[in-house]
Amino acid sequence: MAESIPTTLAAKAWIITGPTSGIGHRTALELAKHGTVVLVGRDRGKLDEVEQEIRTQGGNAVSVVCDLSDVTSARRAAAAIVALDLPIAGLLNNAGISPLRPFKSAQGWDGTFATNHLGPFALTEALIPHLPDGTNVVFICSAVEDPERKPAVTAGFRGARYISAEASARGEWLPGGASIPGGDAYATSKQCNLATVLAFARETPRLRFNAIEPGFSPGSNLGRDANIALRFLLKYVLSPFAPFIKYWSTPKRAGQMIARVLTADTNRTGTYYDENGKPMVGSTQVRDTAFQDRVIAETRALLATVPMGATLTTLAVSAQPARPSQDEQVRADTPPIADNRS
Ligand SMILES: NC(=O)c1ccc[n+]([C@@H]2O[C@H](COP(=O)([O-])OP(=O)(O)OC[C@H]3O[C@@H](n4cnc5c(N)ncnc54)[C@H](OP(=O)(O)O)[C@@H]3O)[C@@H](O)[C@H]2O)c1
Repeated sequence: MAESIPTTLAAKAWIITGPTSGIGHRTALELAKHGTVVLVGRDRGKLDEVEQEIRTQGGNAVSVVCDLSDVTSARRAAAAIVALDLPIAGLLNNAGISPLRPFKSAQGWDGTFATNHLGPFALTEALIPHLPDGTNVVFICSAVEDPERKPAVTAGFRGARYISAEASARGEWLPGGASIPGGDAYATSKQCNLATVLAFARETPRLRFNAIEPGFSPGSNLGRDANIALRFLLKYVLSPFAPFIKYWSTPKRAGQMIARVLTADTNRTGTYYDENGKPMVGSTQVRDTAFQDRVIAETRALLATVPMGATLTTLAVSAQPARPSQDEQVRADTPPIADNRS
């Protein structure tokens, strides 16, 4: 008689960072229709709420606490995800910030660059050896990295201002940059996301790496640092018009499109999708493979300065074991899944 496969192992699992707000929240709800969702966020209380919301809708989720601005926390989260031993089919690097004022990360690096690029890069690199062939790794990018992108220029951006990974970590950007406070850190970190996707797609053909520009979503909380009047204007006055404006979107619409790209059964890798899920191109600089390789090499050199500590040991150990028993599975807070793939 054929052995029955536990449903938790038969279904697919999707990792998402930043599922507690805006675009990531709506994407997590969509992904729950395709299998178990691994929610990666910094706030235990918010994660619990999203987990509960997914369960109420008949889905299945498990949470991993992680502060992506802290490289050590990102590596620990990777170890915790590997230890869950779920059949990962996709990783969505969605979490991101765009603060008006600079701040320092746990490693003393620029907080925006660390949260948007260094943490997600460390998380992804730690997970790569454990991802099954064909896994789709997607980064949420932004067209503000492109100095030729007209709406972004009108808004005050001047494209990415990359000098080096070390300079970015110090909060230094090419002169002549954005008139928006924090704009250079944001645009540069988002360009590094895109460079990572394009370089990784060439480096690791057994996996898929794709990027998405989700469209401008005034309804998300990305502008949470803005004054209350501007936040009100963005969320309640402008957001309802977003579906009718070119390059704009809503968290719900973006979430549906992102889930479609992440779960698509194709071999496409190295593709950059726009807010409609159509292929687009990045800036001239980011399309240059020598530039992509420089970003990757410099990022790796910078991350190598942060000791692996106990994290590596945990990763090495958790990579080896046999699948956990059903008892262990329950202890890992992974209840049986209803296979509700659409
Ligand atoms: N909105 C837009 O117009 C737009 C346009 C282009 C690209 N994007 C990109 O879309 C992605 C999602 O942004 P959004 O607009 O949905 O913003 P959002 O509503 O502010 O959501 C950001 C998410 O990232 C999480 N996060 C922030 N810092 C973190 C950290 N240190 N560690 C772990 N998680 C962290 C937040 O967690 P908390 O809930 O705990 O704060 C939240 O879940 C970002 O990568 C952004 O750059 C947005």
